[in-house]
Amino acid sequence: MSDVELVADILTEVTLDDPAPSDAAVSETSPVTVGATVPTGFEFTAAAEVEEKLGRPCKISKDRGKIYFEIGMDSLAQVHRLRSVDNLFVVVQEFTDFPFKEAKEAALQDFQELAAKLSWEKALKTWELNNNLKKKKKRKKTGGCCKEKKQAAASELPAGDGAEEAPPAGQEERETEDSQAGDSSEVSAQCANDSQENKPGDNTEGNDASPDVSKVLKFRVTCNRAGDKHSFTSNEAARDFGGAVQEHFQWKADMTNFDVEVLLNISFNEMLVGIALTEESLHRRNITHFGPTTLRSTLAYGMLRLCDLEPSDVVIDPMCGTGAIPLEGVSEWPGCFFIAGDNNPNAVNRTASNIGSLLRKQQSMDSSAPQGLPIETTQWDISRLPLRSGSVDVIITDMPFGKRIGSKKKNWDLYPACLREMSRVCRAGTGRAVLLTHDRKCFIKALAKAGHLWRKMHTVWVNIGGLHAGVYLLKRTTLDFSDCSSERLEENQPLSPNSPAKEE
Ligand SMILES: C[S@@+](CC[C@H](N)C(=O)[O-])C[C@H]1O[C@@H](n2cnc3c(N)ncnc32)[C@H](O)[C@@H]1O
Repeated sequence: MSDVELVADILTEVTLDDPAPSDAAVSETSPVTVGATVPTGFEFTAAAEVEEKLGRPCKISKDRGKIYFEIGMDSLAQVHRLRSVDNLFVVVQEFTDFPFKEAKEAALQDFQELAAKLSWEKALKTWELNNNLKKKKKRKKTGGCCKEKKQAAASELPAGDGAEEAPPAGQEERETEDSQAGDSSEVSAQCANDSQENKPGDNTEGNDASPDVSKVLKFRVTCNRAGDKHSFTSNEAARDFGGAVQEHFQWKADMTNFDVEVLLNISFNEMLVGIALTEESLHRRNITHFGPTTLRSTLAYGMLRLCDLEPSDVVIDPMCGTGAIPLEGVSEWPGCFFIAGDNNPNAVNRTASNIGSLLRKQQSMDSSAPQGLPIETTQWDISRLPLRSGSVDVIITDMPFGKRIGSKKKNWDLYPACLREMSRVCRAGTGRAVLLTHDRKCFIKALAKAGHLWRKMHTVWVNIGGLHAGVYLLKRTTLDFSDCSSERLEENQPLSPNSPAKEE
């Protein structure tokens, strides 16, 4: 994105010997640095969103999948409304060249001394404000604190037929791997061995999102480490740093029911200490009924931004699965009309349930919200769409990779048929398509076959559950579909996996 201004470095660099700066003048408008994890490959999209919505320049981390920006603490609510961020944290301090010792004992000794040398005040104030914000949001959603517990529990129940409330294990795996994209050698170790993923604030009686700071807080340290030259493991770093944090604040370590999650992110010679501001990744926002390959809403948002949607655009996701893409689209671009289709009736039912849940959510937040959303769902086959030629402005879809859905073999028939039918329904000259696939070889060959109808504008490389996938932005050429030579688009002519595929 050319409009993204990369500022040199807005973060403070200190050495271990620097005394902690005075904490005296912290107010609610004090600037703080917020970090966000974003889908890898969409860092520039996320930075563009921050610039657009918060008017702040953004720093993109060398370590992929993270961005940083400075805000006044009073802008926290706006930060939570960003659509491209997964997890948010406030930076306590960043070290751009930390002198990690070669000897393990000395390196761990440094972690033990670190807690007392950091300036925590601003980050903790931000954490506290963030908790108040969450509490307010929860009250607004449930219409009063006395109903809170009951309604929060009720809102977690499936809205429709009770099918698939939580993501299945396989899906979790895909999401977890995705969030850990990059070359981390070791991730998410805590002070003690505890693999259970629990949420902060769970321990507070009455499930209040804002723990009483006058009480002894419970905390855990989560360490993410990348780089092979460290003499310590992430578990050891988390344990020793955690011990020092406990001593410094007189907090209580608790791996499962914690109020504060302290983050220790180590990447080669860089280190960042932060405090988490989100309990669970924001990418789950739209989906209540998950499927085997539900796409992250944050990634869907990145794909949608590539389309340059205009009000009144007709947008289709012809292989919608649970509807993650059109649901994100209808939330952010309600001036467009979305059609979500799939050939699998279970997928269509899940999408319909997800639309119902989104509608109820919007109405519970704002009673004057419209009674319907500009989205329809239907069962169809991508190779025979019940749509008039040239009637669609944008096609955006996450194609079967041939791993969990379909097979690589089937893709040799499916992909050319997809592109052929997409070429027919998409408006010549102005139509766009944004297509995600991991089966790049098959896709590139299918595209070459339909190349005179599509121009490839841009490719974004993303990490989907550890798989290297491409998001292809295509523009529909001005060529009329009916004018195309029939042998180039011959439906029954399968692609051959053995002929060479060219990809830049
Ligand atoms: C990768 S999944 C899409 C996942 C979706 N983005 C989500 O968030 O749940 C691909 C989808 O393509 C659908 N599909 C496969 N072949 C199809 C066809 N011929 N016509 C329509 N949909 C098809 C599958 O049923 C599956 O739901």
